[in-house]
Amino acid sequence: MTTVQQALAQGIQRLTQTPPISAQDQNQGGAGPRPGDLLPRDHFDSLDAQLLLSHVLHVERSTLYGYPERELTPAQEQHYQALIERRAQGEPVAYLTGHKEFYGLDFIVDRRVLIPRPETELLVETALLVCRQKIAAGSAPIVADIGTGSGAIPIALAVNEPRLPYLYATDISSDALAVATLNCQRHHLEQRVRLLQGDLIAPLPEPVDVLTANLPYVGTNEIALLTPDVYDYEPHLALFSGPDGLDLIERFLKDVARSNVLKAEAVVLLEIGFQQRERLSQVVQTLWPRARLDVYKDYAGWDRVLQVNM
Ligand SMILES: C[S@@+](CC[C@H](N)C(=O)[O-])C[C@H]1O[C@@H](n2cnc3c(N)ncnc32)[C@H](O)[C@@H]1O
Repeated sequence: MTTVQQALAQGIQRLTQTPPISAQDQNQGGAGPRPGDLLPRDHFDSLDAQLLLSHVLHVERSTLYGYPERELTPAQEQHYQALIERRAQGEPVAYLTGHKEFYGLDFIVDRRVLIPRPETELLVETALLVCRQKIAAGSAPIVADIGTGSGAIPIALAVNEPRLPYLYATDISSDALAVATLNCQRHHLEQRVRLLQGDLIAPLPEPVDVLTANLPYVGTNEIALLTPDVYDYEPHLALFSGPDGLDLIERFLKDVARSNVLKAEAVVLLEIGFQQRERLSQVVQTLWPRARLDVYKDYAGWDRVLQVNM
């Protein structure tokens, strides 16, 4: 019989034998510097083994250390070894467990959606501030999230700000929207988060006060920099956007400028790649010369969120 302690040690040992595969704490594509670079490799192998074992045993991660002598049943041991092996081949932990924590909430994820990244929490944080300013000024802002994937952004906003009456969330991928539907059900938001399929802002039925978007921003020029667990497993529709990663965000900004989708004094919030600030600032200034532009850095110190106040 194998104990929890032994299972963890075996799992870590197996994962440490593999070449680096992890996209832990990386931005969307894994390209560019990331906070994970500051931590030793075995930190992530250990975390992965813990997450997989707690998934198999249906317990919190902290419980593993409370009961290190607990014995696994043969079926649990087999399940855990199979997951460790798939992880060693590169499959992301979130796809193996079917879950990812984002902004303190649990999200269902599978290979139909990008795994929500910690960096994107900055976009949620910024959007919440903007929404609360608008609420304090007496309005009930309408929010739309474009390219919603698992629905992580609008669901985090809706849960954390109950005064938002309803939010729109669009995606071109019906597969992604199927996962977003499950997440809306999980968080009891079927009525408040309205999922719409289509290209960028095309499906929106009315003008909005706040527009958020974490669209694909990895360049096909950057493919060589991607770690295997990103390139081999995550949907390419959610990752790539032209040679330098800017095609979709630029088209989004131009579509917005040409449309009537923004109410007066609306705010647009975009997650961007760490090298995209300059080019996107130029695009914004050309489209909206009178708008105010702010860029916020993520915890690793890289430009990550672009805010445009109309
Ligand atoms: C980087 S993922 C972000 C997912 C989610 N917002 C998040 O932060 O985890 C980008 C999403 O944009 C969607 N997408 C790609 N092209 C699109 C388009 N032309 N119109 C709408 N959504 C699009 C993809 O299907 C994917 O779900």
